[in-house]
Amino acid sequence: MWVMGIPVRMALHTYRYKEPPCLHCHFVIFIYILCISILFLFLFIFSVLLILLNRHSIQMDLRAKHSLGLLDQLRKMRETEKLTDVVLVAEGISFPCHRVVLSAFSPYFRVMFTCGLRECSTREVFLRDTPADSLGLLLNYMYCSELPLNNANVQGVSVAAFLLQMDEVFNHCQSHMRENMDASNCLGVYYFSRDLGAEELADHAQRYLRTHFVQVCMSEEILELEAHQLGALLSSDDLNVSREETILDVVLRWVRQDTPGDGMEDRRSRHLVELLRKVRFALVAPDYLREAMKRNMSLLADAECLEMMEEALEATGMHPASSPRKLKLRYGMETTDLLLCIGNEGGGIRSRYGNYSERSFCYAPSTGRTHYITSPRYGDVLGFVCAGVVTEGNEIVVAGEAGVRKMARQTNRNVEIFRHRVEAQGTWEHLSSAEYRDSYALGALGDTIYLLGGQMKLKNQYLITNSVERWSLQGGPWHSAAPLPIPLAYHSVVRLKNRLYVLGGRTPQSWRMDDEPDRLSNRLLEYDPETNKWTELGPMKYSKYRCGAVALNGEIYVMGGIGCEGVDHGQSRRCLDAVEIYNPDGNFWRDGPTMPSPQLSLRSNASNAAVVGGKLYVCGYYKGADRHEDIIKDILELDPWENRWTVVACRVLMHDAYDVCLVASLNPRELMSPPADLVTQ
Ligand SMILES: *[C@@H]1O[C@H](CO)[C@@H](O)[C@H](O)[C@H]1NC(C)=O
Ligand SMILES: *[C@@H]1O[C@H](CO)[C@@H](O)[C@H](O)[C@H]1NC(C)=O
Ligand SMILES: *[C@@H]1O[C@H](CO)[C@@H](O)[C@H](O)[C@H]1NC(C)=O
Ligand SMILES: *[C@@H]1O[C@H](CO)[C@@H](O)[C@H](O)[C@H]1NC(C)=O
Repeated sequence: MWVMGIPVRMALHTYRYKEPPCLHCHFVIFIYILCISILFLFLFIFSVLLILLNRHSIQMDLRAKHSLGLLDQLRKMRETEKLTDVVLVAEGISFPCHRVVLSAFSPYFRVMFTCGLRECSTREVFLRDTPADSLGLLLNYMYCSELPLNNANVQGVSVAAFLLQMDEVFNHCQSHMRENMDASNCLGVYYFSRDLGAEELADHAQRYLRTHFVQVCMSEEILELEAHQLGALLSSDDLNVSREETILDVVLRWVRQDTPGDGMEDRRSRHLVELLRKVRFALVAPDYLREAMKRNMSLLADAECLEMMEEALEATGMHPASSPRKLKLRYGMETTDLLLCIGNEGGGIRSRYGNYSERSFCYAPSTGRTHYITSPRYGDVLGFVCAGVVTEGNEIVVAGEAGVRKMARQTNRNVEIFRHRVEAQGTWEHLSSAEYRDSYALGALGDTIYLLGGQMKLKNQYLITNSVERWSLQGGPWHSAAPLPIPLAYHSVVRLKNRLYVLGGRTPQSWRMDDEPDRLSNRLLEYDPETNKWTELGPMKYSKYRCGAVALNGEIYVMGGIGCEGVDHGQSRRCLDAVEIYNPDGNFWRDGPTMPSPQLSLRSNASNAAVVGGKLYVCGYYKGADRHEDIIKDILELDPWENRWTVVACRVLMHDAYDVCLVASLNPRELMSPPADLVTQ
């Protein structure tokens, strides 16, 4: 008896002796065979596909050859005027060609030649609104598939393509215009595309001209606008101008464009009053206005103009402090220095819909308003933010370790560097990774960022390092810079006059055992990127860390923190209310105005202070004596000339422990306002 080709007795026999692990062996063999057969199947399918593809491509080759041959013959016949059955005439120039080719490319001609109109039979067709050179280019395109577009011919070609309903060419022209848009041609493109009903291109051009309005005002193109066009443009709130003077200037320039010799002076100056009404005079500096009146005397001789300007001057004279805040500002005027309390640790504020960790608190000292900026998202790529810096070029950069999910996928930990991108809806872009460490400081000089000191984990031991790594925002590898004179972690870094200053922090006791507690540093170290050298300067009165540190008026201010007086020999530490100020010219420290209470920054890794408009701000802190869980979410201001701390905002809606306080110039219109359902915890 046979079962599946095996004698039954044998099968029983083997079955009886089969140990359970052997079942497993059979299974493995089965899988093995299955894999091999699947592999063969794939190989088979693959080769069949290859053969088919090959045949297909041979067919394609034949077809391409065929159509090229046809095109070539048609082109020759057009050149030699063989079998041409129609002559297009534009601006008096004749273009003999073939009806069938025209109809193949243009629905306009197809209808014309097939619907029994008069043109069906006449030999000559006059195209009235089409420039001859544009028509020539379109015919070349039909016969040779070539369309050499440039900024000089693109408008003519697109009008012709539009009239002849050649959609493909029209779209091609639009992309050309979009890609070659600049301040000198965007106005033209805008009005042109709007007139043709090319909405998308018109919107794009409008956005472009608004964001580049300062450059657009300097172009010749703006002088060619008609009065009503200029007027409509100048009414917009969305112009990216930082000074209203730009608007006044462009009005005066536009009106002056008519030289008396042309005899057209009346025509433009007739619109002066109407255009001056678009200027928001209250935003123009009175001195500038006076100067403009003096220098454009003849132009502004009109009684109504003078009256308008006198009124504007009077208004500013009456309320010299009348705040421009109440006025409608244009987009560019709202750009301002903001305090950014960036982090992705959500505790402390909640909206009705859950934690508010995807937004970070921003405060505008100039208006006292609160805004929110997108947080670097916690989780996928980035874990908690550890440090941050704003470069001189206003790039907002933060650093942190990789998020848990990313960490699970990779073997070595890194420091991940991210940059905020206003132009991409405020998303954060990953820039680079550096060797892992924590409790480091992040600095920036020019567009180079510096990773200074920190704790590294080596052979299961934390080791405070003195290494300094730098990386250019332009890209490339990381480079080592001169190491810090002492290993440091939890230190502060400040940029002042193209130097970096490192102060405070924790440093290991080299003369003791490893497990001895770290000592606090009172040293001030200066780094010069030119010589790549560190210099030690005069020490602070206190050894400390977790303090705020900023540069203001050429000096360095260090506020609060935990520390002890003098060099740290292990004496007891306390929370400080001291403010120490360093003067680099004289290399000395002096006492600043004491803080309202002893305090330390909310996070140990980065500063909670920053400078806006010549004043110093501290954004939230732990009010600490022995216990420091008392979180105060106030914003303190120090005017260095008054030498006194004031509270400018109380109980603001910031997170309990944001990561880093920075200052960047941003436009609040790009940011989010606090949602109505935001609640403090
Ligand atoms: C506004 O104009 C300024 C200077 O002209 C420019 O730096 C800035 O990028 C512009 N803003 C936008 C959103 O394009
Ligand atoms: C008119 O005033 C503006 C603003 O002060 C100035 O820039 C311009 O040069 C003046 N025009 C003439 C012709 O002086
Ligand atoms: C909100 O954050 C707190 C503290 O960070 C946390 O305990 C809580 O689970 C979070 N809630 C939600 C809904 O994520
Ligand atoms: C400092 O940063 C590290 C990550 O590098 C973080 O684990 C730690 O909690 C931070 N310390 C404080 C007090 O925020």
